[in-house]
Amino acid sequence: MNMKEIGLLLLLLVTADGARSPSPASGGLPAAVVREVYGNGRLFDITHRVKPDLPKFGSAGGVGQLVTLVQSMKNGSTWNEGEINRMGTHTGTHVDTPGHFYQEYYEAGYTLESLDLDVLNGPALLVDVPRDSNITAEVMKSLQIPKGTRRVLFRTLNTDRRLMYKKEFDSSFVGFMADGAQWLVDNTDIKLVGVDYLSAAAFVNARPTHLAFLKSREIILVEGMKLDDVEAGLYNVHCLPMRLVGAEGSPARCILIK
Ligand SMILES: *[C@@H]1O[C@H](CO)[C@@H](O)[C@H](O)[C@H]1NC(C)=O
Ligand SMILES: *[C@@H]1O[C@H](CO)[C@@H](O)[C@H](O)[C@H]1NC(C)=O
Repeated sequence: MNMKEIGLLLLLLVTADGARSPSPASGGLPAAVVREVYGNGRLFDITHRVKPDLPKFGSAGGVGQLVTLVQSMKNGSTWNEGEINRMGTHTGTHVDTPGHFYQEYYEAGYTLESLDLDVLNGPALLVDVPRDSNITAEVMKSLQIPKGTRRVLFRTLNTDRRLMYKKEFDSSFVGFMADGAQWLVDNTDIKLVGVDYLSAAAFVNARPTHLAFLKSREIILVEGMKLDDVEAGLYNVHCLPMRLVGAEGSPARCILIK
C-alpha cells in the first residue's frame, strides 16, 4: 500500500467507527472527526463547542480565544499544554446555581460544589415550545408536562434562529417570563430546566425570573443547550459541570441518551 491508500484506509476506519487511529508521526493523517451523535444514533452531544465566536451574554464580540498553548511542540517543547484564559463561568452550555442570584445562598455555599448530581442526571423530556411567544404561565400550562417529570429541556425559536451560532449576543431571544417560571415552580415537579440560549429568563425579565426559579434552591438551570437535530421526546440527560468550589455557575458537558 502506498501512503495515499493508507490515508484512505484510515479515513474509512475513522468514518466507520469514529475511533481515532493510532497516529504514525507521518503526514497524511486524516483529521480527527468531530461528531454530534455517537453510539449508532443513541447518544447526542447537546453541548455547544466552546470556540471564539460562541456568543457571550450582553456582548457583540463572542467569548473570544479561551485556550492558548503555553507549551508548544511546534516551538520546541516536549509536549503541548494549554491554558484556559479568562473565561466566564456562564460560558456556552452551562449551569446556574442558586448562588447566582441570591447573595445569602452564595455565602452559604449553594454553589457548584453542592449541586445535586441526581437532578443533573436522569430521565428528561425534550419539548417544543410554541414559537410565537416567550414562556409565560399560559405557555407552560399548554405544554401539559406530565406530573412527576423532573427534568425538561425546552426547545424554542432560539434553536430555529440558530442564535447560539451567532457571535453577536441577541437580546430578542426566547426565555421564561417571571410568571412562567413561577407557574413551573408552583405546578410541576421540574427540577432541571434546560433552555437553548444563554439565559433561562427572557431578557426583559431576567431578575424576577431567576429569583422565581432559584428561590427554593432545588431547581438547577442549564442554559445554552444545543438542541438541534434531536427529536422531541424522552431521554436520559447527563450534565456534568466542573467541581469549582465557590463558583455560582460553570460550563458543563451535557448529553442525551436514547
Ligand atoms: C512560539 O514562539 C513564537 C516566537 O517566540 C511566539 O510568537 C509564539 O507565540 C509561540 N507559540 C506558542 C504556541 O508557544
Ligand atoms: C421574547 O421576549 C423578548 C424580550 O425579552 C422579545 O424581544 C422577543 O420578541 C420575544 N419573543 C417572542 C417570540 O415573543
